[in-house]
Amino acid sequence: MQSKPNLNTPDKSFVAENDALLEAVRHLIEQVPSDPALAFDTLPTYLPDTGAGERELLPDLAALVLGGAHRLDNELSFAHMDPPTPWLTWAMTLWNARLNQNLLHPATAPMARKIEERTIAWLAPFFGMDGGHMVPGSTVANLTALWAARELRGVDEVVAPDTAHVSVEKSARLLGLRFRPLPTDGQGRLLPDAVAGLDRACLVLVAGATSTGVIDPLHLSGSAAWTHVDAAWAGPLRLSKKYAGTLDGIELADSVAVSAHKWLFQPKESALVFFRDAAMAHSALSFGGPYLAAPNIGLLGSHGATAVPLFATLLAWGRDGLASRLDTCMAAAEKFAAFVEEDPRLELLGHPETGVVVWRPRNKTVDQLSAALPVGLASKTTVAGTQWLRCVAANPSANVDAIIDAIQTVI
Ligand SMILES: Cc1ncc(COP(=O)(O)O)c(C=O)c1O
Repeated sequence: MQSKPNLNTPDKSFVAENDALLEAVRHLIEQVPSDPALAFDTLPTYLPDTGAGERELLPDLAALVLGGAHRLDNELSFAHMDPPTPWLTWAMTLWNARLNQNLLHPATAPMARKIEERTIAWLAPFFGMDGGHMVPGSTVANLTALWAARELRGVDEVVAPDTAHVSVEKSARLLGLRFRPLPTDGQGRLLPDAVAGLDRACLVLVAGATSTGVIDPLHLSGSAAWTHVDAAWAGPLRLSKKYAGTLDGIELADSVAVSAHKWLFQPKESALVFFRDAAMAHSALSFGGPYLAAPNIGLLGSHGATAVPLFATLLAWGRDGLASRLDTCMAAAEKFAAFVEEDPRLELLGHPETGVVVWRPRNKTVDQLSAALPVGLASKTTVAGTQWLRCVAANPSANVDAIIDAIQTVI
């Protein structure tokens, strides 16, 4: 016989067991055995009927989830556009999970909605934009911006450098728009002479190409029916007094995408889509519904409070604190590039414009060297048809001397 649901007693799984929660946090801070007690391979392949219990499971989960993970704050972590996250964002994410607010419903997420609005208001002016909203990644930011271009300017084509992120062509296809890739130079930068016939086109310019980090000629912003700048990676440089000028021209765009989970050091999934005229863009992307007290703007339905960790980070660090981390990352990339340039056994593709260093060995294949390097030190990419190694300065704790030593021992 099935037991009767108990309707009036709080379910203990939804009430804080203080010391258990603190134990979970302790696992975050303390070293976790890298050899999980609960081996992944011994887990059932079917969903168990009986649960193991939260408290009982916590040490095993810690060993499995934390112990089995690669650490992005490791001093050799230098391979991808994925940064480590400041501890304040761990705390805010825990609070977010506990509250589980949905910004779709103003009455139950009043502060979270205000926090997102204020965060957007702080950041948008750096890009010459007047507003926008948060999305789970620049893939969605790009899609949202191209959707606005189609609704507001009737564009029938998306034109982008042939090195643009896959999300640009994906978005064009989803929106039923033609996709026209334009030629680029040997480092993946759009060739300005190739840009023509944009009366009914959305021109996408990239600030920080995925493979090489180069910046397209952003002064071309405004030369199409709509210009979108995909600044997923390099957008935050706009907040650095030293490097802001490298993105000059971005302020002439109609929309801008920035991934906060890249160079704003946020947990995934956190990104922003900005518009030069956000009221107009948002009204073109707004829907109502009988159960909605406020318009549903953009692609998402339920929309979590990812602004909270970003807001907290910006408030704790200020513009200067963020800029100093970005400047540290840029200095690391420049120091590493100088090492590559000076070593006769290595070849550098070009000066790292936005913290991405593309390089390779002269005396080995890229695959050979990549296999010999510590995991997470470099990734592989293809530029203009040939293979290269790619280092990305997303980690302010990267130790360039230790990275160079690791390369010296295997080269
Ligand atoms: C230039 C560029 N645009 C868009 C994206 C997609 O961003 P996300 O991973 O935040 O969806 C990336 C990801 O690396 C990127 O490098």
